[in-house]
Amino acid sequence: MKDGAPEELSLKRFELQYIIGQGAFGKVKTVMDKKTKKQYALKYINKEECIEGRSTINIFRERLMLQTLCHPYIIGLRFAFQDDIHLFMVLEYAKGGDLRFNLGKQAVFDAHTIMVWAAQLSYAIDYMHEQKIIHRDLKPENLLLDDLGNLYITDLNIAVSVEKRFPSSESGTLDYMAPEMFTGQPYGLSIDWWATGTIIYECIYKKRPFRGGESNEEVKDAILSKPLKFSDKTADGDPVPIIPVREQFLEQLLERDVSKRLGSANNGRGFEAEVKSHEYFIKIDWKLIAEKKLLPNYHPNNDKDAMNFQPNLLIEEMINGGSDVSYRPRKKKRDPNKKTLGEKLVGSFSSIFSKSRSDNSLSQKLTKTKTRKEIELEQMEEYFVPFDYELPNNPEMKLPPDTKKEKKDEGSAATIGKEGAKEDFTPEKGSPLRNNEDDDNSSVHSVDSAASIELAKKSTLKNHSPLRGGFEPDEEEFGDKIKITDVDESPPNPAVQKQTVPGAQL
Ligand SMILES: Nc1ncnc2c1ncn2[C@@H]1O[C@H](COP(=O)(O)OP(=O)(O)O)[C@@H](O)[C@H]1O
Ligand SMILES: [Mg+2]
Repeated sequence: MKDGAPEELSLKRFELQYIIGQGAFGKVKTVMDKKTKKQYALKYINKEECIEGRSTINIFRERLMLQTLCHPYIIGLRFAFQDDIHLFMVLEYAKGGDLRFNLGKQAVFDAHTIMVWAAQLSYAIDYMHEQKIIHRDLKPENLLLDDLGNLYITDLNIAVSVEKRFPSSESGTLDYMAPEMFTGQPYGLSIDWWATGTIIYECIYKKRPFRGGESNEEVKDAILSKPLKFSDKTADGDPVPIIPVREQFLEQLLERDVSKRLGSANNGRGFEAEVKSHEYFIKIDWKLIAEKKLLPNYHPNNDKDAMNFQPNLLIEEMINGGSDVSYRPRKKKRDPNKKTLGEKLVGSFSSIFSKSRSDNSLSQKLTKTKTRKEIELEQMEEYFVPFDYELPNNPEMKLPPDTKKEKKDEGSAATIGKEGAKEDFTPEKGSPLRNNEDDDNSSVHSVDSAASIELAKKSTLKNHSPLRGGFEPDEEEFGDKIKITDVDESPPNPAVQKQTVPGAQL
């Protein structure tokens, strides 16, 4: 470990509390920093499951971006470390729970609350876009509330840098995907504005604007061609006020023609020119938004003992015999120069056989080649360096070099995304996903690596204004989460490429 690294950082520093969230590989628990008594959200990822799910690079990128971005409405990373089993990210804790949970709890959100959320979300998206990052997975599960009801973006697991090229894969959650994501052509920042329209619509009507039946094809068809309809009732029959300017705002965000979509000016950086100045936001004082002084009316349940997460997570954990994570001291690291007796024997056998002309294959068998798992476990040690936001000289977080060749060798051009892996979504033949396998352009991984490192270098990590906190459970289920792949290797569409955003940097 380099000088100045927070060597002591481990789970020992935190008191584990209760489980509040779960993804495909990661779980989220609240923890208390024993030193400062501050509460945080601990996202922990099982290393082996992460490797099996081909998500190592995604976790690296997510961690780097969360560490680097600094915005009043984006969850910040506070600590990162690992043990032999898990990777850990300690994040600011949003006590109000995620927006999905709150959507299930509240019959109707008042117009002011929705407008303030729309403003906070747009403001944060513009900041991400300024850094040339597309979130790609904006949805109620990935938007969190603090105790005052302020909204925060989190989960940058499939966020992608468009510094050098644009992605073309169907990455994200189907219901929130913009129509241009189904064309196989590179797409840009504007997909996040489409997702914003879908989320705001859902907050108002308790249903998404474009719904299909059970199948993914039907959902895609709805997104591609169903008319956008407004109503004076939510999906549950509760009355909704008709606000023409709000409907117009949604119509313009949910515009299928990207070039006409609200926010698409300046290659998707149309926040200043179009979104901020939209009539819907006429009553918004953007200075107050920036200062977190314009609050929504809706407050999550702030009772002392209330919990703003799905209670089934706690029950499942209890049924499964309690917490699957606890402090474990690290195994002693081996000195790579000191060989074990077995390795010495293999080494001498191997040299004897390699001298013999007759049996090269046995020699090869005896010379151990590393498996993908071994390589990625080593990468985790090397690249997922410890991070403590209070220390000035954390070791620099880098990303591993291009992994494209290996991906091809393994017969997969895709990092299967989280819910995608779970729900077994297979893209159809001929979809961009499969076409991309033969694409010989440089992989997005290398592009992202370079861009993210640049980003990290330019970043000055400041403190976010701290989140504060509160709760109540509900069982409402919303469905159709599909998260697929991260293959971004299509040649950029000249039409999109031309629109490269000039200059804005961290
Ligand atoms: N910082 C946080 N504060 C409060 N809840 C959180 C926080 N981070 C995550 N969660 C909860 O955990 C869930 C999963 O976290 P997320 O980062 O989205 O992981 P995944 O990548 O597995 O989807 C979220 O939907 C949310 O309910
Ligand atoms: Mg998530």
